[in-house]
Amino acid sequence: MARFYVLLGPPGAGKGTQAAIIAEKCAVPHISSGNIFRENLQNETELGKRAKIFMEKGELVPDEITIGMVEDRLSQTDCKNGALLDGYPRTPTQAQALNEFLNNHGNKINAVPFINVSSNDLIERLSGRWTCKAEGHVYHLKYKPPKQADICDLDGSALYQREDDKLATVEQRIKVYSEQTAPLIAFYKEKGLLYEVDGSLSIEQVTEKLLAIVENVE
Ligand code: AP5
Repeated sequence: MARFYVLLGPPGAGKGTQAAIIAEKCAVPHISSGNIFRENLQNETELGKRAKIFMEKGELVPDEITIGMVEDRLSQTDCKNGALLDGYPRTPTQAQALNEFLNNHGNKINAVPFINVSSNDLIERLSGRWTCKAEGHVYHLKYKPPKQADICDLDGSALYQREDDKLATVEQRIKVYSEQTAPLIAFYKEKGLLYEVDGSLSIEQVTEKLLAIVENVE
């Protein structure tokens, strides 16, 4: 049976870092709405141009753009056994749309691990983050330094600092998260799907906790 997981958490909580590891262990694709937007931005597609206006202000890209984009990705054949969603859903409307989409395809969400980290830690994490240009692999100057400065260990491409990791934009992203995405915590708790993990632990400790969740849920 297909298995679908939603990784929830504020900007910089470690969703992308953990999703890459957990998706590989569970043999499902890692679907990051942020990465799909950034690929479109890099390739200067129409979608990328529309998303850029919102992303550079730290705002959410409107639901009518985002929902269709993620549903297209979920319709691809590599998702037939499930997927690990990172950064989606992010609004109650997206959450409803995801439920309907999965129901219509005879699927459901199996678990929603929520990585919880304080705002102070988020700012430190995002200001020290470096991301690889080719595949979006994530590093941190203090917590996960690359072997060679400015170069991705995994594919040798250049590392860069995301435009939306500037302090003012980070603060706006955290505010937007509190207002528009945090209500999903109660939404999924009520459905019995929410599993909170202390995201202030080390990367390895968080991975252990997340694996214990995804390996033990129905
Ligand atoms: P998106 O790319 O999804 O950004 P985000 O949710 O803000 O999350 P981040 O990628 O910033 O952080 P993360 O939790 O993945 O942390 P990471 O693992 O990198 O979205 C970007 C924008 O796209 C949005 O603002 C919006 O405009 C748009 N968008 C995307 N999805 C959308 C949607 N569904 N609807 C509408 N708009 C959407 O870790 C951060 C740093 O911390 C790294 O340096 C890492 O090495 C380090 N780190 C990780 N874990 C630990 C640890 N345990 N201890 C110490 N350091 C750690």
